[in-house]
Amino acid sequence: MATNDANVRTRVHYHKIRVFSPEFSIVLHLARSVQILLMPHPVLSYMVELVVFGQEEMKRYLRLFAEAIRLGLRFHLLIEGPPGTAKTLAVNQMVSSLKKEVGDIPYVRVTGSQDALPSDLIGDLDIGKYREGEMDILAGPLFSAHGRDTPGIVYADELNRFSEYTLIIFTEIMAEWQVSFPKTPITKPLRANVIATMNPYDISGITEVPQHILDRFNARIVVNYPDKETELRIAAQHTEYYYKKFASRLKSLFHPLVSTTRAMRKLGVPLGPRIYLSTLDLLALELSSIGSIDNDTVIQHYENAVRSRIGNLEEDKQSEFLSTASIALRGELEGAKK
Ligand SMILES: Nc1ncnc2c1ncn2[C@@H]1O[C@H](COP(=O)(O)OP(=O)(O)O)[C@@H](O)[C@H]1O
Ligand SMILES: [Mg+2]
Repeated sequence: MATNDANVRTRVHYHKIRVFSPEFSIVLHLARSVQILLMPHPVLSYMVELVVFGQEEMKRYLRLFAEAIRLGLRFHLLIEGPPGTAKTLAVNQMVSSLKKEVGDIPYVRVTGSQDALPSDLIGDLDIGKYREGEMDILAGPLFSAHGRDTPGIVYADELNRFSEYTLIIFTEIMAEWQVSFPKTPITKPLRANVIATMNPYDISGITEVPQHILDRFNARIVVNYPDKETELRIAAQHTEYYYKKFASRLKSLFHPLVSTTRAMRKLGVPLGPRIYLSTLDLLALELSSIGSIDNDTVIQHYENAVRSRIGNLEEDKQSEFLSTASIALRGELEGAKK
């Protein structure tokens, strides 16, 4: 967490937490480690133990990314695909196994937002010092990815939510492993490889990533929803992993939930596996609290899981979509019983 350049004071702006001194960021780091140790078992091992089914091309390029880090080479990867295609899961697994193997690699994850300014990522002129006649930088969070022995890793999630203005800073990092601070003569090294993910479907708050930035990536991988068999395995793995106790009761719902989601997807809304996974979460909670579930309960939870993903549609489109989804799911559930 602390800065990699002794001359630079760190200003971490990460997940809405602002820290102004390296000492304090060490405290924060320790606090986080303690928090991690206290996490219940499933959360701690989530990244490591879940298997990513299929998505072979993505996994292959992630292996190459890890190899480039080991060898100290420049290599940047862009993964594009709809929500819920295991992009984040696969990246987290790659980073965590690389860390196990070569030790603590400097790593920073930033999530794209239209409101983020370049200074939120790279930092800004140190005004206090400037007043005293010195020119220095309060380094931003990206500098925590600066690696000395091996290149560090910048994971830019939802890259195309950054504005074009902010996207520019990735160009210099990717091409030259350094950052030049606007309106100053200051340049700082930032030896890190960039792995970026982005979602092609989302319509709100998205930027078209300019060609000159795309050009800096060694490869752009496109992932998509897996086939039905794989989606059934995803549902089964999730249920076995988190709700083993209810797995046999929930098993008969995998097919209806997955089939309905795939059918609704064909109507043009990108409903990913999270729709049926969060429905299964709700149903496991029902089983745990009241011990039984009926078809109406399944449909109600499914509708509410879907509702939170279609906020972009107009109101009457939303209700039309929801009623189509519940009719389809009822058909599947009643068909499954026969
Ligand atoms: N191919 C897959 N194999 C295993 N689990 C998957 C797969 N695709 C999706 N999932 C499940 O869906 C969840 C969401 O995936 P995530 O990595 O967050 O998606 P993305 O970052 O692409 O939006 C994962 O945590 C996992 O439980
Ligand atoms: Mg993601």
